[in-house]
Amino acid sequence: MKGKQWVLVKHFEGEPKDEDLELQEFDLPDELNEGEVLLEGLYWTVDPYMRPYSKRYTPPLTMFGEQLAKVIKTRNGEYPLGTIVLSMSGWRSHFISNGNDLKPISFDLGSTPLSYCLGTLGMPGATAYFGLMSLLEPKKGDKLILNGAAGAVGSVVGQLAKIHGCEVIAFVGDDSKLDWCKNELGFDHVFNYKKVDFSEVIQKVAPDGCELFFDNVGGNWYHTIINKHLKKYGKATICGSIENYNDKEVKLYPNTNYSILSKELRIQGIIVHTFAKDWPKAFTEMNQYIQEGKLKVKETTYEGFENMRSAFYGLFKGENTGKAIVKA
Ligand SMILES: NC(=O)c1ccc[n+]([C@@H]2O[C@H](COP(=O)([O-])OP(=O)(O)OC[C@H]3O[C@@H](n4cnc5c(N)ncnc54)[C@H](OP(=O)(O)O)[C@@H]3O)[C@@H](O)[C@H]2O)c1
Repeated sequence: MKGKQWVLVKHFEGEPKDEDLELQEFDLPDELNEGEVLLEGLYWTVDPYMRPYSKRYTPPLTMFGEQLAKVIKTRNGEYPLGTIVLSMSGWRSHFISNGNDLKPISFDLGSTPLSYCLGTLGMPGATAYFGLMSLLEPKKGDKLILNGAAGAVGSVVGQLAKIHGCEVIAFVGDDSKLDWCKNELGFDHVFNYKKVDFSEVIQKVAPDGCELFFDNVGGNWYHTIINKHLKKYGKATICGSIENYNDKEVKLYPNTNYSILSKELRIQGIIVHTFAKDWPKAFTEMNQYIQEGKLKVKETTYEGFENMRSAFYGLFKGENTGKAIVKA
């Protein structure tokens, strides 16, 4: 039997290109050793972090990342046939495990679709939950500036902020995303940042400034919002900087630090895994919101493992609304 894997054959430089990632076959043994299981991927996630993290490794390497997989052969009593697990086994169609690196789903999913465990009820949802609830501590009436608002993290941040009584000023990169955020998710002010000057429109809807900022994009957003739009004692979660992931050189903006100190802002980065022990609690709460219709979920699904590369590249072109997922 053969499996398939996506191999990073050379480092990305600038925008990811087709020749950087290659689909290769590999052999799977006919027999398993005692304690082993053979898994088949059902869903894979593609996430923006994969672009900057790839620099930590030396190619060639199988692309890393999480998947939802099913046990299709087993010699391990803990993992009977058909068991579904989460695994950081990378961009592989099949893999063999001794069970140590497999994670069962840690909360009661109920009737919620399984693939949500890679999105709203997975790493991106946890990022939204802890980046908002633990770092920004939203209060009723707070004004929240949110970019990347129709993405896997942003769409959850905005909805949780609404549940907690915030006024959400949201930015997305196309009009269908704008429509979804405004009319289905109920964000208060939504703009297509490609059609407006984001600073001008924030000034218009929040002339006295905003209490909170959840930054998924970085670059000019980070500097402009800290310098011009956060109020004294404002708080920002620095979640991502997708605007800069494909940059070839590092850029510096000297005034930002002065604004942080003079306005005594609380700016905090987040690495979602710091909160890992509390993820199941957050997922249980958010699954309850999903069941009650208070938290809406959208996925952009790419059919077929062969489309992993296109799905990944799509993140940098704004192709996905909600979570980008690849389905076997
Ligand atoms: N710190 C952590 O632990 C952690 C964990 C998860 C994610 N993150 C970060 O959070 C951010 C959002 O992640 P996600 O999984 O929710 O991704 P996502 O928002 O679902 O997908 C990426 C989106 O980013 C927008 N985008 C792409 N290039 C852009 C650019 N040059 N300028 C502005 N927007 C751009 C596009 O939306 P538009 O069409 O709206 O432009 C695209 O659809 C990323 O920066 C990611 O690295 C951090």
